[in-house]
This record gives sequence, C-alpha cells and structure tokens, in this order.
Amino acid sequence: HPPTGPGPLLVLVGPPGAGKSTVASALGVRCGLAVRDTDSDVERRAGKPISAIFVDDGEPAFRALERAAVADALAEHDGVLALGGGAVLDATTQELLAGYRDAGGTVVFLDVSLAHAAPRVGFNQSRPLLLGNPRAQWQALMDARRPVYEAVASMRVSTDGLRPAAVAELIHDQL
Ligand code: S3P
Repeated sequence: HPPTGPGPLLVLVGPPGAGKSTVASALGVRCGLAVRDTDSDVERRAGKPISAIFVDDGEPAFRALERAAVADALAEHDGVLALGGGAVLDATTQELLAGYRDAGGTVVFLDVSLAHAAPRVGFNQSRPLLLGNPRAQWQALMDARRPVYEAVASMRVSTDGLRPAAVAELIHDQL
C-alpha cells in the first residue's frame, strides 16, 4: 500500500471496452476491496449521464469534471479504482499517477484488441467519442493513446478472450 495515506491499491486504465469496470468488480470480489469508478463519480456530480455532459457542456467541461474526480478518488479511495478511458490524457492526472506509482501503487493497463472491444462498445450510444463509426474511432483512439497507457502503467494485461474473473486472477498473481 502506498505509504502516503489513503489511496487505491490498484488503478485500472485502458480504452473503452477493455473491461475496466467489470474487472474492477471482479478484483473487488477476489481481493475483498472496495471498487470505485471515475465515470460514475462524474455522472453523480454532474447529475446526468456522460453522454448528456458532452452534449450540454462539451468535452472540455467533461474533462475538467473528470480531472477533479480522479484527483479526489486517488486521495480518498482505498481499493480498486477504474478510470474513464480518456482520463490519462490529462497532464495533471499523469503526474498524480506517477506519484501514486512512486509511492508503491500499481497502475494496470488493460490491453484489448478491436475485435474484443468492439462487441462491448459498438451497440449503445453511451460513449460520445465513438458515435458514427465506432470501430474506426475506437482504433484511432487506441493508436493515439497506447503510448500513454503504457507510460502511466506499471503492469500490462492482455484481456483478449479472458473473462473478468480470469483477468482479476492474472492481476492478483502479479501483485
Ligand atoms: C472516454 C471513455 C469513457 C468515458 C467518456 C470518454 C474516452 O469511459 O469516460 O465517454 O475518452 O475514452 P470508458 O472507458 O469507461 O468507456
């Protein structure tokens, strides 16, 4: 556990469709840890779904809410923390994650291919950045972000073909 006080034991990062939320739940069950999710924190604070925040207020407003939610969760939460897929693009969040790793925390990059992410993200309208052509947009996001996911993470797990419980077990075994 990071010696600096409260803070998550594990932070999960990765693109939409990597299974961050479901793996976080599985880790919570397996390791007896509380689970928190920055997308849910942002929606609760804003009082509306992420898709509505994008439409009503725009992406920069969403990113500002997200930055604050990540900072608070990193400071307060003790357990598993799943970040929204784009949270790691923020410079302040990158610095917080670097400090968290320096203090002994683990940041896990859940890696996934388009073929395995697409069925999870392609069939609903809840992700504003993937409207239009979800497959092409997902791949463009992943190509641009992969270097960032790799840079912020201390562990990478390829999730293709694995159930959430199996991913949780892989992470647990590598801690
Ligand atoms: C986003 C991912 C979403 C959500 C928002 C933006 C992104 O979270 O935060 O729609 O930029 O990749 P998930 O990764 O949980 O889908």
